[in-house]
Amino acid sequence: MPRELASGERRVAATPETVRRLLAKGVNLQVQQGAGEAAGFGDADFVAVGAELAPADGLAWEQVDGVLCVQPPPLEQLARLQQGALLVGLLAPYGATGLAETLNGRQASAIALELLPRISRAQSMDVLSSQANIAGYKAVLLAAAALDRYVPMLMTAAGTIQPSRVLVLGAGVAGLQALATAKRLGGVVYVSDVRAAAKEQVESLGGRFIDPPQQADKPAEEGGYAKAASEAFLAAQRQQLAEQLALADIVICTALVPGRPAPRLISEAMLDGMRPGAVVVDLAVAQGGNCFGTVAGTTVERRGVQLIGADALPSSVPNHASALYARNVAALVEHLLAEEGLRLDPDDPILAGCLLTHAGLCRREDVVYPPTSRPGDS
Ligand code: NAI
Repeated sequence: MPRELASGERRVAATPETVRRLLAKGVNLQVQQGAGEAAGFGDADFVAVGAELAPADGLAWEQVDGVLCVQPPPLEQLARLQQGALLVGLLAPYGATGLAETLNGRQASAIALELLPRISRAQSMDVLSSQANIAGYKAVLLAAAALDRYVPMLMTAAGTIQPSRVLVLGAGVAGLQALATAKRLGGVVYVSDVRAAAKEQVESLGGRFIDPPQQADKPAEEGGYAKAASEAFLAAQRQQLAEQLALADIVICTALVPGRPAPRLISEAMLDGMRPGAVVVDLAVAQGGNCFGTVAGTTVERRGVQLIGADALPSSVPNHASALYARNVAALVEHLLAEEGLRLDPDDPILAGCLLTHAGLCRREDVVYPPTSRPGDS
């Protein structure tokens, strides 16, 4: 396990708990010195459970059978992988330049965890869920801390304070956790999604569901995910949401379509209609944002409305985010272990979607080279 190099990344891919768990299955883990520090796991904690320490100035990439990471290591490190090595992490494969070529140059078997299928058997390995849960929770806390009002209803000697109104866009894992967290704080929560199944989930958590506009071109669903909406549908949705937005104190944006730019649900004009003092947290900012004007990693104030571009929230809860991520990774590695060691069957339903490269081939060209980013295209 190398030290994570991506700026702002504080999570790690293994914890003392998972080192112990993997060791019991015959996997020896080498931990680069200081790798777990930012997540609250010291070198001594790793050594105590049987990990070996690799020097702080470098991991012997050429000598390990596999690498467990959170963010993709730099290409120059991947180019040093042992032939046929395993790489497991959130490899950011969508349109990634040079990633598949470098991995194939080493005949590496690379598992991109963001492509793991959402099937029951793979639930214990689902890092998108474990990390999105954290993002949804933390987004509400950030919003509550920035808001100029209380979230709960309060009855005091000085009179009654009405509860804040929270609008959540997208009812996936992050959105549902945002709803649950905002409810726990005492807010009144409205949630918008385009998937039919979302209504029941939202209502079971005490949220009020905003039915999508009744348009003929409502986005289709595939494998539990919404497909991209047409511009006409999004326009109708924006019109519908404008009224909600004008009443909202907090807006949490989590609407996404896998591998596509985030749907733009809040326009500049809609922001103009918001109450000064209100807060928008945009979790979709790295995919272009659900909200006009949000900037990744910063807060922009616009006519008294705070726009928080929250692109790295799981990393801001690094201890628990790592604990959950590491358990997901350990479950996957255990799944790959057979009597004779690691066994990668590209036809295994769990691997079929997330095995990015294997035996010198890129198996998800549709993701790495989508039609707009094929090498040589202008
Ligand atoms: P996500 O983070 O990719 O997207 C968030 C939400 O945005 C989705 O609910 C999507 O329908 C919604 N959305 C897209 N366009 C929208 C628009 N124009 N307006 C409003 N909302 C919009 O989603 P996440 O959290 O990864 O979950 C997606 C699906 O995967 C869900 O069906 C969920 O139940 C399923 N899932 C299955 C798991 C399993 O079986 N292991 C684990 C986790 C999720």
